[in-house]
Amino acid sequence: MSKLKIAVQKSGRLYDESMQILKDIGISIDNGRDQLKASAKNFPVEVFYLRNGDIPQYLKDGVVDAAIIGENVLIEKGGDIQIIQKLGFSSCKVSIAVPKSVKYNNMQDLEGKRIATSYPNTVQQFLDKNNVNAQLHIINGSVEIAPNIGLADAIVDIVSSGSTLFKNGLKEVEVLLKSEAVLASSPLISKDNLEILNTIKFRIDSVLKGRR
Ligand code: PRP
Ligand code: MG
Repeated sequence: MSKLKIAVQKSGRLYDESMQILKDIGISIDNGRDQLKASAKNFPVEVFYLRNGDIPQYLKDGVVDAAIIGENVLIEKGGDIQIIQKLGFSSCKVSIAVPKSVKYNNMQDLEGKRIATSYPNTVQQFLDKNNVNAQLHIINGSVEIAPNIGLADAIVDIVSSGSTLFKNGLKEVEVLLKSEAVLASSPLISKDNLEILNTIKFRIDSVLKGRR
């Protein structure tokens, strides 16, 4: 019998609630994420614990059939991956922030400036849309430190509680997009696995309605 391969974030903000929603729809996983791969006991599903940034490519290649992933990551790396359903957790923004002491009026203030980010495609698109030229510095984590160490004039990163911005003396000045966790599918998913995915979607719908 065919099994749906579903990717979830191995570590990070989405992990707990991703596992919770699978549990809530009656999919129980016997072993933990240190196994990297786990089968559900009672449902034709295999869970793969993967790095967030790798998931879009695995979806594109059909290595996994589906994923629970942040919309922001799909927008940055996704291409033609279909979002099946919004999951109502892990909402965040992707925003531009500058040091609190800096006067900021509008996007033109970023002309010629250096921006540190882990979301280069998203940022470049936003700059192009606003006809602003800026220099991008790609960093994979702890982006908010960049202005303090003289590496950048501004940053673009995820804002959730706003605490990381606050702690680093930064203020949010533009919101590029709003995001939450979503269920996404591979363009290469088989017909059998699509049926399994539709069952999952149906169950998630009921769980989300119950939560409201
Ligand atoms: C994430 C993100 C922001 C922060 C936003 O970083 O990159 O820095 O969370 O959350 P907040 O608004 O609630 O503070 P994370 O802590 O995951 O570490 P990383 O950037 O080093 O990956
Ligand atoms: Mg961070």
